[in-house]
Amino acid sequence: MAVQSIPIPPSTSGKAPRWTQPVSFYGQSVFSKYYAQSICVFLLLVPFLISPAAAQGQGAIGGQNCVTNYNPSDNVDYFPSKITVDNAALFKVRYANNYKVVTNTAGKKDFVLYQCGTTPPSASQFANDTIFVSVPVQAVASLTTTSVAYIEMLGKRSALKVVDTEGLVSSPCVQLGLEKGEIVGLEDANKTLRAEQFKGANIVFGSGFSVENGTETKTVGTSEVSDPGPLNRAEWLEFYSTFFNLEESAQKLTASINNNYNCFKSAANAKATKPIVAWSSYVAPSSFNNNTATWTLSGADYKKILTVDAGASFYNGTTKGTFTTSTEFLAAIKDVDVIIDETFAGSDMAAFLTSYGWFSQPQRRS
Ligand SMILES: *[C@@H]1O[C@H](CO)[C@@H](O)[C@H](O)[C@H]1NC(C)=O
Ligand SMILES: *[C@@H]1O[C@H](CO)[C@@H](O)[C@H](O)[C@H]1NC(C)=O
Ligand SMILES: *[C@@H]1O[C@H](CO)[C@@H](O)[C@H](O)[C@H]1NC(C)=O
Ligand SMILES: *[C@@H]1O[C@H](CO)[C@@H](O)[C@H](O)[C@H]1NC(C)=O
Ligand SMILES: *[C@@H]1O[C@H](CO)[C@@H](O)[C@H](O)[C@H]1NC(C)=O
Repeated sequence: MAVQSIPIPPSTSGKAPRWTQPVSFYGQSVFSKYYAQSICVFLLLVPFLISPAAAQGQGAIGGQNCVTNYNPSDNVDYFPSKITVDNAALFKVRYANNYKVVTNTAGKKDFVLYQCGTTPPSASQFANDTIFVSVPVQAVASLTTTSVAYIEMLGKRSALKVVDTEGLVSSPCVQLGLEKGEIVGLEDANKTLRAEQFKGANIVFGSGFSVENGTETKTVGTSEVSDPGPLNRAEWLEFYSTFFNLEESAQKLTASINNNYNCFKSAANAKATKPIVAWSSYVAPSSFNNNTATWTLSGADYKKILTVDAGASFYNGTTKGTFTTSTEFLAAIKDVDVIIDETFAGSDMAAFLTSYGWFSQPQRRS
């Protein structure tokens, strides 16, 4: 895909109002960038006091270095910093002396990560689709934009060589890397070139469990976007860290994210009055929906948790979440104080009001 630059929101009097989140006032390509940014906001903003993880010393042997004189009978623990999974529900890690078994429990898939220079355990001990990876990895490809944020937080942007849907990556540094050719956007049309791009990567992070032809032995399916809560998702930093032997840094980062998050959560929930918040979207009639417009209230777990933790009460429509007339939809949200409009694209406030059927005519003079 072509590299796109990140757009700057337009302003009328030199400065956009502070409270504006102008996601839906743009075309689709711009909208999707802002959307990607805002769903990652917990990762990008919450730990703002923390600099990305630096290379960590994990003892004199192993860590970032390959072992040169491996002898199993020495009984050396090459992974003295181990992660413990506290919030995430969809992965687990078990450690042995020279390898760790990282499991994506959503896909029931094991990854055996063995310290570079040591002998991997026998494949016969594991399911036949187990992926074996020598760690720390030096070069990774990412089929998902979410992986990019984790890799960057671990301070391993330099290991990121190939990114798919790179136009949707919100990181300015990754965009700069793409411009300078240090990172390449995954080729879509030329299959030969695409296969070459994958060849240089030790592993390919992908969402879900579909595996690209030729990457069967190095695709790592990740499931952060299915882990229900914000803190669950934040802890996927630890999943990613195992591939870089950066467990210690990841544990510190997630601890800091948790502390900040919980601090805001208790401050926000100290207020007795709770506004009612709904996350809604309008889908215009098209060939994708049988030419039937719908108005939807989201019930996604992470939105519910973010809303409640921010000191509001979450409204999902209670008995019905999808409506086919705006009258019915507006009646359903009559007691809602705040709506977070997730409509995929809208040109301006008047378009928003019209699509929700609030006013057919703009009510305010501009
Ligand atoms: C892996 O094992 C399953 C059954 O456990 C079997 O159905 C499948 O064909 C095996 N796949 C390979 C590639 O050997
Ligand atoms: C596809 O990529 C390969 C490898 O880079 C190159 O040799 C070939 O010319 C490309 N094919 C087309 C049609 O551009
Ligand atoms: C995978 O790639 C090989 C070699 O390019 C090709 O022969 C095979 O048909 C491909 N398989 C699929 C499922 O696309
Ligand atoms: C599509 O819409 C038509 C007319 O409103 C209706 O008769 C038909 O049942 C709808 N089809 C589906 C799959 O909903
Ligand atoms: C809204 O949430 C409640 C409580 O979790 C649930 O029982 C209900 O089915 C949800 N409503 C919709 C429309 O999803």
